[in-house]
Amino acid sequence: MTDASSAYSWCQIPHLAQRTLWSLRKPAPDPEGERWLLSLLTPAESVLYRQMAAVDRAHAINCARVVESLGAEVVVASALHDVGKTQSGLGTAGRVAASLAGLVNYEQARSWGSKPGLRGQVALYLDHSDIGSAELQMAGASKLAVAWAREHHLQAEQQTIEPDLAAALKAADD
Ligand SMILES: [Fe+2]
Ligand SMILES: [Fe+2]
Repeated sequence: MTDASSAYSWCQIPHLAQRTLWSLRKPAPDPEGERWLLSLLTPAESVLYRQMAAVDRAHAINCARVVESLGAEVVVASALHDVGKTQSGLGTAGRVAASLAGLVNYEQARSWGSKPGLRGQVALYLDHSDIGSAELQMAGASKLAVAWAREHHLQAEQQTIEPDLAAALKAADD
Protein backbone atom coordinates (compact mmCIF):
# COMPACT_ATOMS: atom_id res chain seq x y z
CA MET A 1 0.00 0.00 0.00
CA THR A 2 1.33 3.42 -0.92
CA ASP A 3 0.05 6.77 0.30
CA ALA A 4 1.03 10.23 -0.85
CA SER A 5 4.08 10.34 1.44
CA SER A 6 5.37 6.82 0.78
CA ALA A 7 8.26 6.35 -1.59
CA TYR A 8 8.41 2.58 -1.62
CA SER A 9 5.87 -0.18 -2.03
CA TRP A 10 6.01 -3.97 -2.33
CA CYS A 11 5.34 -3.79 -6.06
CA GLN A 12 8.82 -2.27 -6.39
CA ILE A 13 10.56 -5.41 -5.11
CA PRO A 14 11.40 -6.77 -8.59
CA HIS A 15 12.89 -3.38 -9.49
CA LEU A 16 14.80 -3.31 -6.19
CA ALA A 17 16.18 -6.81 -6.74
CA GLN A 18 17.19 -6.01 -10.31
CA ARG A 19 18.87 -2.78 -9.24
CA THR A 20 20.71 -4.54 -6.41
CA LEU A 21 22.10 -7.20 -8.75
CA TRP A 22 23.23 -4.42 -11.10
CA SER A 23 24.89 -2.54 -8.19
CA LEU A 24 26.76 -5.65 -7.06
CA ARG A 25 28.62 -5.60 -10.37
CA LYS A 26 30.10 -2.24 -9.23
CA PRO A 27 29.37 -0.43 -12.50
CA ALA A 28 31.72 2.44 -13.26
CA PRO A 29 30.73 5.61 -15.12
CA ASP A 30 31.54 5.42 -18.82
CA PRO A 31 34.21 8.15 -19.39
CA GLU A 32 32.80 9.28 -22.73
CA GLY A 33 29.27 9.36 -21.33
CA GLU A 34 30.50 11.31 -18.35
CA ARG A 35 32.22 13.93 -20.54
CA TRP A 36 29.03 14.29 -22.58
CA LEU A 37 26.84 14.65 -19.51
CA LEU A 38 29.17 17.15 -17.82
CA SER A 39 29.05 19.30 -20.97
CA LEU A 40 25.30 19.71 -20.35
CA LEU A 41 25.46 20.50 -16.62
CA THR A 42 25.87 23.91 -15.06
CA PRO A 43 28.83 24.33 -12.68
CA ALA A 44 26.54 23.94 -9.65
CA GLU A 45 24.91 20.82 -11.10
CA SER A 46 28.37 19.44 -11.89
CA VAL A 47 29.35 19.78 -8.23
CA LEU A 48 26.33 17.68 -7.21
CA TYR A 49 27.06 15.13 -9.93
CA ARG A 50 30.74 14.75 -9.00
CA GLN A 51 29.80 14.11 -5.35
CA MET A 52 27.73 11.07 -6.32
CA ALA A 53 29.06 7.55 -5.78
CA ALA A 54 30.46 5.81 -8.88
CA VAL A 55 27.47 3.46 -9.05
CA ASP A 56 25.09 6.44 -9.00
CA ARG A 57 27.08 8.28 -11.69
CA ALA A 58 26.94 5.16 -13.88
CA HIS A 59 23.16 5.03 -13.34
CA ALA A 60 22.90 8.77 -14.07
CA ILE A 61 24.65 8.38 -17.42
CA ASN A 62 22.48 5.40 -18.38
CA CYS A 63 19.33 7.35 -17.51
CA ALA A 64 20.57 10.35 -19.48
CA ARG A 65 21.38 8.31 -22.61
CA VAL A 66 17.89 6.79 -22.80
CA VAL A 67 16.26 10.23 -23.13
CA GLU A 68 18.99 11.86 -25.24
CA SER A 69 16.55 12.52 -28.11
CA LEU A 70 14.28 14.58 -25.82
CA GLY A 71 16.75 17.43 -25.34
CA ALA A 72 19.21 18.72 -22.77
CA GLU A 73 16.69 19.74 -20.10
CA VAL A 74 15.18 16.24 -20.02
CA VAL A 75 18.62 14.63 -20.14
CA VAL A 76 19.79 16.60 -17.12
CA ALA A 77 16.60 15.88 -15.16
CA SER A 78 16.94 12.17 -15.94
CA ALA A 79 20.60 12.12 -14.94
CA LEU A 80 20.28 13.94 -11.62
CA HIS A 81 17.10 12.39 -10.15
CA ASP A 82 19.03 10.31 -7.57
CA VAL A 83 21.47 13.03 -6.55
CA GLY A 84 20.00 13.02 -3.02
CA LYS A 85 21.41 9.53 -2.35
CA THR A 86 24.87 10.99 -1.71
CA GLN A 87 24.00 12.31 1.76
CA SER A 88 23.21 8.87 3.17
CA GLY A 89 26.74 7.61 2.53
CA LEU A 90 25.36 4.05 2.25
CA GLY A 91 27.01 1.30 0.18
CA THR A 92 25.11 -1.46 -1.59
CA ALA A 93 24.34 -3.55 1.52
CA GLY A 94 23.12 -0.52 3.44
CA ARG A 95 20.94 0.54 0.51
CA VAL A 96 19.30 -2.87 0.37
CA ALA A 97 18.68 -2.72 4.13
CA ALA A 98 17.27 0.79 3.77
CA SER A 99 14.94 -0.23 0.96
CA LEU A 100 13.71 -3.23 2.94
CA ALA A 101 13.18 -1.06 6.02
CA GLY A 102 11.18 1.29 3.80
CA LEU A 103 9.08 -1.58 2.50
CA VAL A 104 8.33 -2.92 6.00
CA ASN A 105 7.48 0.40 7.65
CA TYR A 106 8.31 3.44 5.57
CA GLU A 107 7.06 6.08 8.02
CA GLN A 108 8.91 4.58 10.98
CA ALA A 109 12.17 4.17 9.06
CA ARG A 110 11.88 7.71 7.73
CA SER A 111 11.39 9.01 11.29
CA TRP A 112 14.90 7.81 12.20
CA GLY A 113 16.30 11.01 10.68
CA SER A 114 17.60 12.29 14.01
CA LYS A 115 19.14 8.93 15.03
CA PRO A 116 22.90 8.43 14.90
CA GLY A 117 24.59 5.74 12.82
CA LEU A 118 22.93 3.36 10.41
CA ARG A 119 19.34 4.27 11.29
CA GLY A 120 20.00 7.91 10.49
CA GLN A 121 21.64 6.90 7.20
CA VAL A 122 18.64 4.71 6.34
CA ALA A 123 16.31 7.66 6.94
CA LEU A 124 18.44 9.91 4.73
CA TYR A 125 18.43 7.28 1.99
CA LEU A 126 14.64 6.91 2.13
CA ASP A 127 14.42 10.71 1.93
CA HIS A 128 16.64 10.94 -1.15
CA SER A 129 13.83 12.22 -3.35
CA ASP A 130 13.17 15.29 -1.20
CA ILE A 131 16.86 15.82 -0.38
CA GLY A 132 17.83 15.68 -4.04
CA SER A 133 14.99 17.95 -5.04
CA ALA A 134 16.07 20.57 -2.49
CA GLU A 135 19.72 20.28 -3.56
CA LEU A 136 18.79 20.77 -7.20
CA GLN A 137 16.62 23.76 -6.35
CA MET A 138 19.52 25.35 -4.46
CA ALA A 139 21.78 24.61 -7.43
CA GLY A 140 19.41 26.53 -9.71
CA ALA A 141 18.42 23.45 -11.72
CA SER A 142 15.37 23.47 -13.99
CA LYS A 143 11.85 23.07 -12.63
CA LEU A 144 11.71 19.70 -14.40
CA ALA A 145 14.88 18.44 -12.68
CA VAL A 146 13.61 19.60 -9.27
CA ALA A 147 10.19 18.00 -9.86
CA TRP A 148 11.53 14.69 -11.20
CA ALA A 149 13.92 14.28 -8.27
CA ARG A 150 11.00 14.83 -5.90
CA GLU A 151 8.49 12.66 -7.78
CA HIS A 152 10.49 9.78 -9.26
CA HIS A 153 9.35 7.22 -6.65
CA LEU A 154 5.75 8.42 -6.56
CA GLN A 155 2.85 6.73 -8.32
CA ALA A 156 1.88 8.27 -11.68
CA GLU A 157 -1.28 9.82 -10.22
CA GLN A 158 0.81 11.65 -7.60
CA GLN A 159 3.17 13.23 -10.14
CA THR A 160 2.85 16.79 -11.49
CA ILE A 161 5.05 16.27 -14.55
CA GLU A 162 3.25 15.89 -17.88
CA PRO A 163 2.34 12.16 -18.05
CA ASP A 164 4.14 11.24 -21.31
CA LEU A 165 7.30 12.95 -20.14
CA ALA A 166 7.07 11.35 -16.68
CA ALA A 167 6.60 7.95 -18.35
CA ALA A 168 9.71 8.50 -20.49
CA LEU A 169 11.74 9.50 -17.43
CA LYS A 170 10.40 6.52 -15.48
CA ALA A 171 11.28 4.14 -18.32
CA ALA A 172 14.81 5.54 -18.34
CA ASP A 173 15.11 4.89 -14.61
CA ASP A 174 13.94 1.26 -14.85
FE1 LIG B 1 15.57 7.10 -6.44
FE1 LIG C 1 17.19 5.96 -10.19
